[in-house]
Amino acid sequence: MKTPKAVFVCQECGAQAPKWMGRCTECGAWNSLVEERAVETPAGAGGQNRYAQLGAAGSAKLYADVELANAARLSTGIDEFDRVLGGGIVPGSLVLLGGEPGIGKSTLLLQAAAHFAREVGPVLYASGEESEHQIKRRGDRLGVGEEAPLYLLSETCLERILEEIARLKPALVIIDSVQTVFSIKFQSAPGSIGQVREAATQFLFAAKGQNIPTILVGHVTKDGSLAGPKVLEHVVDTVLYFEGERHHAHRVVRAVKNRFGAVSELGVFEMTGAGLRPVPNPSKLFLAERASETPGSAVLCCVEGSRPILVEVQALVSTSTYGNARRMAIGIDQNRVALLLAVLEKRAGLSLAGDDVYVNIAGGMSVEEPAADLSVVAAVASSVRNRSLPASTAMFGEVGLSGEIRGIPQAALRVREAAQMGFGRVVMPAANVDGLHTAGCDLVGVRTVGEALDQLIT
Ligand code: TYD
Ligand code: MG
Repeated sequence: MKTPKAVFVCQECGAQAPKWMGRCTECGAWNSLVEERAVETPAGAGGQNRYAQLGAAGSAKLYADVELANAARLSTGIDEFDRVLGGGIVPGSLVLLGGEPGIGKSTLLLQAAAHFAREVGPVLYASGEESEHQIKRRGDRLGVGEEAPLYLLSETCLERILEEIARLKPALVIIDSVQTVFSIKFQSAPGSIGQVREAATQFLFAAKGQNIPTILVGHVTKDGSLAGPKVLEHVVDTVLYFEGERHHAHRVVRAVKNRFGAVSELGVFEMTGAGLRPVPNPSKLFLAERASETPGSAVLCCVEGSRPILVEVQALVSTSTYGNARRMAIGIDQNRVALLLAVLEKRAGLSLAGDDVYVNIAGGMSVEEPAADLSVVAAVASSVRNRSLPASTAMFGEVGLSGEIRGIPQAALRVREAAQMGFGRVVMPAANVDGLHTAGCDLVGVRTVGEALDQLIT
């Protein structure tokens, strides 16, 4: 028998080398090469077999002849989860849910599995991390009933899991975590790049071939990206990230890739004693503890995906007691804040030279869009002048380097959310005001930072 060929695979980028090296020549990572042996499948019969699950190889079809048979989406029973999936899970799709340990991935999926089993059909929940007892104990806390056809499988062997999928023909498969699954065809350890890639590919074939939607749980590394190769993200149809501060009760599920829906769509949950509870009105949650009379607090209308959310932007400016002034930002890009402080100094005549500046998005939210600029500027100015911003005013707008307020997309959506949340006035880019009418909400268009501050701080 031929000895299997050894290859050395970089665990960071997936590059292969014929011999071991201390440093990957592709990505430059140190000590990342690991030996992996694949049992080669002979070409011909065996080679075909590997892809057999994809269904009979067909000839090319005319665009007009392709039928959209499986366009219907299946609801997971959790509105917020359906929303990030783009309105439910698509049959035959492969979804990857990533997140830090303990954030609630298993909890969310067990809740979804229970509902799915009750409403749609049998669910296979394969876990390589917990025993059936452990899963059931959690299920009891979550109120999972015993009548639903929910199958638990504590197994890490890929081939065994695939056998069970073929035997049970479930309506949904959940693999709690793809990093624990290993194939007997490879000699490398579970979680190594070869194993993860093989597992993901095999689950893809099973999902597409048998039209079973499959959700994979993925671990994340220290720097927050999904552990394992980038190929994992390329293979799957949808990539969701579970985020949230461990010390806050709320959690956010975000779509970063979705072949069947919009990206950056957001689902908000709250961790309670009985599992994750969807939060249909996140603005209320993020503004709940706002002290509107305090200087340095501004309300921003931001949009995540297609969803408007009001969040509180806080700033604190205090005299620096040490040599160099500190600038800190949490939940928003530090460089963006530095840029806005420079604009404030130069265009609005605020002096911040000897001051520490802290900017924080309350409630552990993070905001990336430039529409947050105006609220940061307003919060900082409010703290410097020690005057609170008007309590029932919300704002949004991008600030340019010459101090101009630039228009931003989806203004109507933001204004509507502010009006719904009871804000009587919105300070926004003048370019966005045209053609917008909202009953009960006063829209104030501003062109420069100076104008905006005149409107906000009286
Ligand atoms: P878990 O879902 O196991 O996280 P993951 O699979 O992402 O590693 O658990 C999340 C945390 O939530 C765990 O530390 C305990 C807590 N928790 C609750 O607060 N309430 C609950 O009802 C459950 C089931 C868990
Ligand atoms: Mg888990």
